[in-house]
Amino acid sequence: MEKKNAIYEGKAKILYATENPDQLICYYKDDATAGNGAKKGTIVDKGIMNNKITMFFFDLLAKEGISNHVIEVMDDRNVLIKKLDIVPLEVIIRNVAAGSLAKRLGLEEGTPMSMPVIELCYKNDDLGDPMVNRYHVLACKLASAEELDEIEAQALKINKIMVDYLKTKNIDLIDFKLEFGRDKDGKIILADEISPDNCRFWDSVTKEKLDKDRFRRDLGNVEDAYKEILKRLTGEVR
Ligand code: C5P
Repeated sequence: MEKKNAIYEGKAKILYATENPDQLICYYKDDATAGNGAKKGTIVDKGIMNNKITMFFFDLLAKEGISNHVIEVMDDRNVLIKKLDIVPLEVIIRNVAAGSLAKRLGLEEGTPMSMPVIELCYKNDDLGDPMVNRYHVLACKLASAEELDEIEAQALKINKIMVDYLKTKNIDLIDFKLEFGRDKDGKIILADEISPDNCRFWDSVTKEKLDKDRFRRDLGNVEDAYKEILKRLTGEVR
């Protein structure tokens, strides 16, 4: 499949048109940003590692009936994907308090939640992705009630599958962010990526952070954290 013009450049990925109007090529970059673009940097080979880690999770979830936008992995950084009508929501699932939740509610980072918490944010860089609730989503027609029910059900199922799997790799899934889109038939499909860029992964024993917080908080050994996640999931040593 041939890459045509770039139709969208995000912070970590570029989407290219193809000769098929229903298909795009997603290219994974090494660029890293934090604080809605306030901090910029590069994480060596991040694009390659995030592509592989995302595919690993997408395959794991597909076996449990969760559909995703991938058609075919083309190479280390390029994936052929279905063009979806993206629901403009960031769906955050939290198992343990960290990051903005810890700050907002005055909780110590690492405090377990007694049940998974779903947060919704309106995907809008200019507004800084503000948190919204079900009423905002419905009133602003960001998604229908049926779509939101489906998104939340899929998000909770994904969380359960990932938490259980990651436990076997000595990784705690603290929180993560998902995005969904509608396919041509209006079906809700998992999109975007699942990687250390949009998940918080802590070593179960040492509680060492193995995710993008190492970049956001200048903790050092950023590449090593991504490599460690890839190694624990796939056995691949980079
Ligand atoms: O920053 P905060 O604590 O709200 O992030 C919660 C989770 O959502 C983290 O895993 C983070 O990586 C992810 N996230 C994201 N993209 C955003 C906001 C949060 O991937 N724009």
